[in-house]
Amino acid sequence: MGGGNKIKSVAVIGAGAAGAVTAAALKAEEVFDYIRVFERRESAGGTWIYDAAVQPNILVRPGALPAETDPPLEIPQHLPAITQPNEQERFSKTPIYSSLTTNVPEIAMSFSDIRFPYGPFAPHHIPRQYIENYFALHKTDSFLVLNTTVEDVSKLNHPSNDGSTQWKLTLRKHDALRNVDIWWEETFDALILANGHYSVPTIPQVKGLEEYIQKYPGRIIHSKTYRSPSIYKNNRVLIIGNSASGTDLSRELVSTAQLPVYQSRRSKIWWEGDSPPAGIEWKPVISEYLPNNGRILFEDGTYLDDIDTVIYCTGYKPSYPFWNAKKNGQPLWDDRKGQLVKSYWHTFFQEYSNLGIVGLPRVLTFRSFEYQAIALARLFANRNPVPLPPVSEQQAWADAREELTRREHRKFHDISWDDGETREWLQGFLKLSGLGTLTGQGRIPPPLTKEMIWAIENLKKYKPGGDDGRKDADGQRADNHGWVVVESRKRDVLGFI
Ligand SMILES: Cc1cc2nc3c(=O)[nH]c(=O)nc-3n(C[C@H](O)[C@H](O)[C@H](O)COP(=O)(O)OP(=O)(O)OC[C@H]3O[C@@H](n4cnc5c(N)ncnc54)[C@H](O)[C@@H]3O)c2cc1C
Ligand SMILES: NC(=O)c1ccc[n+]([C@@H]2O[C@H](COP(=O)([O-])OP(=O)(O)OC[C@H]3O[C@@H](n4cnc5c(N)ncnc54)[C@H](OP(=O)(O)O)[C@@H]3O)[C@@H](O)[C@H]2O)c1
Repeated sequence: MGGGNKIKSVAVIGAGAAGAVTAAALKAEEVFDYIRVFERRESAGGTWIYDAAVQPNILVRPGALPAETDPPLEIPQHLPAITQPNEQERFSKTPIYSSLTTNVPEIAMSFSDIRFPYGPFAPHHIPRQYIENYFALHKTDSFLVLNTTVEDVSKLNHPSNDGSTQWKLTLRKHDALRNVDIWWEETFDALILANGHYSVPTIPQVKGLEEYIQKYPGRIIHSKTYRSPSIYKNNRVLIIGNSASGTDLSRELVSTAQLPVYQSRRSKIWWEGDSPPAGIEWKPVISEYLPNNGRILFEDGTYLDDIDTVIYCTGYKPSYPFWNAKKNGQPLWDDRKGQLVKSYWHTFFQEYSNLGIVGLPRVLTFRSFEYQAIALARLFANRNPVPLPPVSEQQAWADAREELTRREHRKFHDISWDDGETREWLQGFLKLSGLGTLTGQGRIPPPLTKEMIWAIENLKKYKPGGDDGRKDADGQRADNHGWVVVESRKRDVLGFI
C-alpha cells in the first residue's frame, strides 16, 4: 500500500471513548486536512456523563425497535436553516446512576498512552474526566463540534467520478442562548461512526404490559432512568434482568426498598451463587401483567400483587436514525439479525471503503476501540501495509460469523475472551495497521500485556454470591475494597460487558 492519499477530510460521530481515541489516531497520521468530531452533548464523555435529573417515565413501547422508538427528525427543506428547538426524544441522556463504578479493570479501560488515575474499579466521574482530558492531551479538543447532532448521513458521488464517495452530513446545533436549532450541511471524504449503543432502552413485549403501563403510569421504568435507591424507600420493587444493571440495582435497593427486593431472571450470571444475596428473592420470567388488579404473573405460576415499581434492566439496542438508507442504497443495521449490514471485522463496510465504525462489539471496551481506531486511521491515510481482503472474502467472513454465532446462540457482534476470539480479532488490526512510519506518523497498536491479561481474568468487581471457586493466589477468598481476585469462572470472563 502507501502512496497518495485521497481522503483529506474525516468526520467522526460521537465524543465518547471511541470518538476520543479515533480523533487521536486520525490526528497522529498527520495527513488529514480537516477532522471534525460531532457530539450532540455539551461535552465529551459519552456514556460517562452523569445526568443527575432525568424523568423516570417509561421511554419506549414494549417490544419496539429503535427504528420506531428513535426515528429520524424531519429535516428542513432548505439548508442552512433556523428552526424552533427539537422536542422529539433523542435519548441523549445517559444511564449512569449515582453509585456506578467501572466494572472493567482500569488497565484495560485505559488507552495505551495514559492510565486512569486509579483503579482497578473507579467511580463514574473518573472515565468521564479521562475522556474529556484525552481530547485535550492530544489537542484534538479543537476538532470537537459540541451540542451538534448528526441528523442525516447521505452518500454523494465524488465529483471526479472515480467510484469513490463523499458523505454529506446534515447537522443540527442547539443554540441555547437564542433557544433555536441551527441546521447546516458539511461534506467529508470519510466518516467514522462512534455513536455508542447504550442510548435507546429496550423493554420486552409481555402480555398485558402495554395496558399495565397505561393503567399505572410511573410504575414501570427502565434502568436508564434509575439514579439512586433513595426514592424507592419502602417500595415493593421488582427488577427484571440479571446482567450488570440488574445485579447492581437489586443489590443496592436492598438498603431502602421493602424486603425482599424481587429479581426476575431469564438466565444465570457467572458471579451468582446457588441462592440470592440477602434481601433479594429470585423470580422467573414474567408471563403476564393483569392491568385490572395490578397482579404480575410469572412462568412458574406464582404471582406478585401491590408492586410499586418495576425496573426493566433489559439493556439497549443500537440506533442509527441518521443513516439515510434510501440515499445510501442499503440499511446500516439489520434489526432482525441484530448486526451491521455487509460489514467486515466489526469495523469496516464492504460497500463503502470510506466508512468505519468504532465501539460496537461487546468485548474489551476502551482498549479495543484503540485498535479499531488505529486501523481505520491507517486505512484512510492509505498507509496500511496489507490491504483489506477483497469484498468476496469479507462477505465470506460475515457469512461464517453469522453461522458460528447462530450455532453458539451468541450475538454477531459479541466477541468472546475465553476462547481466544478477542486476541484473534485484535491481531487482525495489528496486521492491517502495521507500524506507522519511521518518522513517527501514525499510532502503533499497543501490546496486550501479561499484566493486562491477568487483570482482565482475575480482578472482579462483582463479589460472587456463592462459593464457586473464586479464591486468591493463596487459595483464600480476597475481599478488598468491594472487589475480588478470582481464579475460575463459569461463563466468558467478559460476558457482562
Ligand atoms: C450503565 C453503563 C455502565 C457501563 N460500565 C462500563 C464499565 O464499567 N466499563 C466499561 O469498559 N464499559 C462500560 N460500559 C460500556 C460503555 O458504554 C463503554 O465503556 C464506552 O464508554 C462506550 O463508548 P462509546 O464512545 O462507544 O459510546 P458512548 O460513550 O455512548 O459515546 C457515544 C457518543 O456519541 C454521541 N452521539 C450519538 N449519536 C449522535 C449523533 N447523531 N450526533 C452526534 N453525537 C451523537 C453520544 O451523545 C455520545 O456522547 C457501560 C455502559 C453503560 C450503559
Ligand atoms: N459499570 C457497571 O457496573 C455497570 C452497571 C450497569 C451496566 N453496565 C454496562 O452497561 C451495559 C448494559 O448492561 P445491562 O445490564 O443494562 O444490560 P444487558 O447486559 O444487555 O442485560 C440485559 C439483561 O436483561 C435480561 N432480559 C432480557 N429480556 C428479558 C426478559 N424478558 N425477562 C427477563 N430478563 C430479560 C437479559 O437476560 P439474558 O442474559 O437471558 O439475555 C440480561 O440479563 C453493559 O455493557 C454493562 O456492562 C455496567
